[in-house]
Amino acid sequence: MKKILVTGGLGFIGSHTVVELQNAGFEVVIIDNLSNSKIEVLDNIQEITNKKPEFFNIDLRNKKDVKHFFNTNSIDGIIHFAASKAVGESVNIPLEYYENNINSLVFILQEMKNHKISNFIFSSSCTIYGQADELPITENSPIKPAESPYGNTKQIGEEIIRDASKVTNINAISLRYFNPIGAHESIKIGELPIGIPQNLIPYITQTAMGIRKELSVFGDDYNTPDGTAIRDYIHVVDLAKAHISALKRLIDKRNNESFEFFNVGTGKGNSVLEIIQKFETATNVKLNYKITDRRAGDVTAAYADVSKIQKELSWQNEKTLTEALISAWEWQKSVK
Ligand code: WQD
Repeated sequence: MKKILVTGGLGFIGSHTVVELQNAGFEVVIIDNLSNSKIEVLDNIQEITNKKPEFFNIDLRNKKDVKHFFNTNSIDGIIHFAASKAVGESVNIPLEYYENNINSLVFILQEMKNHKISNFIFSSSCTIYGQADELPITENSPIKPAESPYGNTKQIGEEIIRDASKVTNINAISLRYFNPIGAHESIKIGELPIGIPQNLIPYITQTAMGIRKELSVFGDDYNTPDGTAIRDYIHVVDLAKAHISALKRLIDKRNNESFEFFNVGTGKGNSVLEIIQKFETATNVKLNYKITDRRAGDVTAAYADVSKIQKELSWQNEKTLTEALISAWEWQKSVK
């Protein structure tokens, strides 16, 4: 049984990917420093799959600890989620973002080279495209100057991986996520934002719960049909499954290059007001919201062209937006 290291495996996307890895017959070991996740997620994963992943509380900024881990554990592949990921926060503390997101990546790649580990999946983001000139966004869309240090760490991360893969045994796939939402059908894992949610869906579900007074819709003067910004919202379980497809491609040596990259989305865009309306219809809960100013750094519209991942990885999202919104609501109601 191949053993896969999942860094950040107790986080939102990481935990859903651990479940799908176990379902696909992989052995999983998690590294997480619990800076943005809870140790209880480990038991929740076990409740879903009946298999408890090995867990190491390691901070990947500590080069000695990273080296020791790889000297004492035999790994067949790595899915690397661990990173700081709040766009707004990254503007205020850029050095912490570059230290965490870049140093950790370099230390892991160095150990892959030292231990001849080939298979690497990188958690990237559609934010690297900025406001694309053409929609839907393809993988050939130009990479725009990053709008935030967070987005820049994803751009730099891909360049580091590309350069390393040219001269080492590393074969890598970068998955450029659009907007992950929802929760596992068991409602035992989901999104656990700490503090005031930055992202739309957890803010909506906390407003519906009465935890937040009302949702602010950041601007209705965009050049879109209803004036609110458009995004590609993908169910987190579909996103998790894309990682399994990418990993199998590398393990089976079906990759065409040593560094490949794929958009992961549904290929459909929805505006903020459309999401609100779909949430209210799906859950029968009326949402308090008001229109406010735009949020700095937001783009007007971003949704994926998914033909490359469909063709190369035979992957396609399966769950509907309504299923994702209902699962997010069910999860919110279950959170203590
Ligand atoms: C979605 C839409 C907001 C909150 C995020 C991450 C990015 C990437 C993709 C990881 C926007 C609007 C939001 C609110 C609102 N993920 N909104 N009121 O900004 O598209 O990108 O997911 O790599 O890194 O930042 O997602 O959920 O913050 O916003 O009106 O209270 O909802 O303006 O149009 P975003 P989001």
